Formats: sequence, structure tokens, C-alpha cells
Amino acid sequence: MDLKLSGKVALVTGAGSQIGYGKAIALTLAEEGCDLILGDIDLEGTNQTADEVKALGRKVTAMRVDVRNRTQVDEMVKKGIDEFGGIDILVNNAGASSKMMPFMKMTKEDWDYDIGVNLYGQMNVAHAVLPHMMSRNQGRIINTSGGQGIPALSTYGAAKAGVVMFTRALAKEVQGSGVIVTVYSPGLGATGLTADDPRMDSIAPTLALGRLCTPQDVAPIVAFLASEVSSYMAASMVWAH
Ligand SMILES: NC(=O)c1ccc[n+]([C@@H]2O[C@H](COP(=O)([O-])OP(=O)(O)OC[C@H]3O[C@@H](n4cnc5c(N)ncnc54)[C@H](O)[C@@H]3O)[C@@H](O)[C@H]2O)c1
Repeated sequence: MDLKLSGKVALVTGAGSQIGYGKAIALTLAEEGCDLILGDIDLEGTNQTADEVKALGRKVTAMRVDVRNRTQVDEMVKKGIDEFGGIDILVNNAGASSKMMPFMKMTKEDWDYDIGVNLYGQMNVAHAVLPHMMSRNQGRIINTSGGQGIPALSTYGAAKAGVVMFTRALAKEVQGSGVIVTVYSPGLGATGLTADDPRMDSIAPTLALGRLCTPQDVAPIVAFLASEVSSYMAASMVWAH
């Protein structure tokens, strides 16, 4: 099936982690013919990902951006539009967890960090690209949810639950504009985010498929959501686990 992604420009956040979902998403979109704007707080890793995108023959720019910082997000979006002529796809992938610890051991700064990166971060980038997408009557925004109700991840899960309701409302607000907003929830996988979680090995056999999710499992789902062929997905949620 032709996903009709060739020639599109995708902005992917959080593609700097060399073991994360964002890098696989960026490379899959590049293989499908997209040019890439990559924004991550980790510039060194993002440059490595950008080199692999270039090797696939696609145009790419890598920027250091903290998605919590609206000024930096606005600069990233402006630079991307100036350099590439437009942004067709936003993959709001950047995410992090302050510390895996019980709620009563967390500080207000820990809560702010989790909500800041995982909820405000996705709102910031969506808010920055939407006027541009709506002015062109086209666009795809793919938000990233995640594990909710998991002990020691209370405020992270709260932010990820917020992303679901944010997406539902936003998808309806922009209905008919040509911009489609979706949210998906990747399965539990061994990425930078979970590297310090000692529960991974014992959880893996209890998952639906009896194994952890991999970046290669996630990337085609996002490519589908980013594509023209997913045009009936308005206001929908996709759960990958
Ligand atoms: N790994 C899992 O089990 C799992 C499960 C469900 C959802 N997710 C979600 O998948 C997405 C990708 O995470 P991952 O698992 O690949 O983890 P990862 O740590 O490997 O990648 C996350 C990336 O986000 C970047 N990032 C963190 N804070 C940032 C900030 N403030 N501004 C910009 N970039 C920032 C990191 O530098 C990193 O490159 C996240 O939204 C995460 O919440 C992961």
C-alpha cells in the first residue's frame, strides 16, 4: 500500500534517543519519503539520528529544543517552516519521567516536570503548528499517550491520560479543517524512558503478546497515522497495547 508520504515534511520530537521510539519513527518516515525536522533536548543524539536520515537520501534538520519551553518550540516550528516550506506532520513523541518513585516521595518539582514534558510539551508543539496547518487546510498531529495507573509513575500517567482527553477535544475542534489529530499509546518497551525500571523483565511475559514492544513495532503505526490513508481516523484513539 502506498502511504502517500513521499515529499511530506514531518516534525518529530524526541528522536534523539538511540534506543527510543522517536528515532525509529523518524527513520521509517524518511524511508517512506518524508523530509524531517527533528527537535529534542538531546542535540548530540538528534544529530546522530539526522545523519541516518541523510543516509536515506532525505533532507533533515536537527535542533535542540525543550518542549516545555514555548519560545524554543516556536523557534523550532518557524525555522522548520522557513527551511522546508511547510510542515505536514507533527509526531509529538518527546516524553520523559522525572523519577520512578511513589507519589508521596515526589516533590512538586517532580510533578511539574512530568506534566510539563508529557502534557504541556505536546500542547506547546501542537499549538505552535496548528495555525500553519489550518492555513493550508491539511496536516496530521499524532500525540503520544502511555502507561496510566502504574505505581511509581503517577504523575507521568496523569499527564498521559491528559494527552488522551486533550486530543479528543482538539480533534473535534479542528474537524473539517483538513487537520487530523490522533493519539496512540505505544506498548511497554525497553527505551531510554524505562532504562532504570527494574520491573521490565517481570512485566514482559504478562503483556498481551508475551514480550516487550520494540521501536520497530511502533514506527509503522505512526507512519499509518501520519499518512493520507488514515483520513477516517478523525478524533480517534489507537491503542497499541
Ligand atoms: N518506552 C515505553 O515503554 C513507552 C510506553 C508508552 C509510551 N511511551 C512514550 O513514547 C515516547 C517516546 O519515549 P521512549 O520510550 O522512546 O523514551 P526515550 O527516553 O528513549 O526517548 C524519549 C526522547 O524524548 C526526549 N526528551 C525528553 N524530554 C524532553 C524535552 N523536555 N524536550 C524535548 N525532548 C525531550 C529525550 O531526549 C529522548 O530522545 C514518549 O512520549 C513516552 O512517554 C513509551
